[in-house]
Amino acid sequence: MRLWFNPASPFARKVRVVAREAGVDKRIEEMSILVSPVKAHPDLARENPLVKIPALSTPDEGTLYDSTVICDYLDSLHRGMSLFPKTGSERWRELRLQSLCDGILDAAVLMRYEGAVRPEALRWPDWVAGQMGKVRGGLDALERECAAWGECFAIGEITAACVLGYLDFRFPDESWRASRPALAKWYEKVSQRPSMKATVPA
Ligand code: BEZ
Repeated sequence: MRLWFNPASPFARKVRVVAREAGVDKRIEEMSILVSPVKAHPDLARENPLVKIPALSTPDEGTLYDSTVICDYLDSLHRGMSLFPKTGSERWRELRLQSLCDGILDAAVLMRYEGAVRPEALRWPDWVAGQMGKVRGGLDALERECAAWGECFAIGEITAACVLGYLDFRFPDESWRASRPALAKWYEKVSQRPSMKATVPA
């Protein structure tokens, strides 16, 4: 299998952490590419018409995207503890947490593009403030919820860890820890996992 990714992408990190937690990473060739929202990468365009990473070329199911679908697929390849619970409240708890964290990441990545890619004359501060409101509101929800996560590190918690890693990487001045001590403590612990250490953004 070939994974098209960029080491800075938090969505790609989510896939790479899942691959390692599921023990299937050795079956994946990681193909690091530079991506731009305004200039299509021709090789990636052949795999994913949206020209977005992550995308996973598989031997049996063609090329899969987005990160949620890829993670679910990778989870289907192993027999250990499932990272996507199949039934019951656990399933909805994990899927909702994943959606919350994906939404935080969407807002953070849009803000990153606004600051790094959009020409200065076209920037809109109110729009950036709106995205930051989503990030901060999402983090406050994680602070309230994280005591219930215990030792679980399934798809929801993995995505939460990728959110916090991305904020440290791209928004180091945000100081998200200051008003969220429980989340900070949780993140300190999960950052020590080999899957997280092996995928620190560069
Ligand atoms: C980033 O550089 O922050 C980034 C790169 C690829 C996808 C998303 C974010």
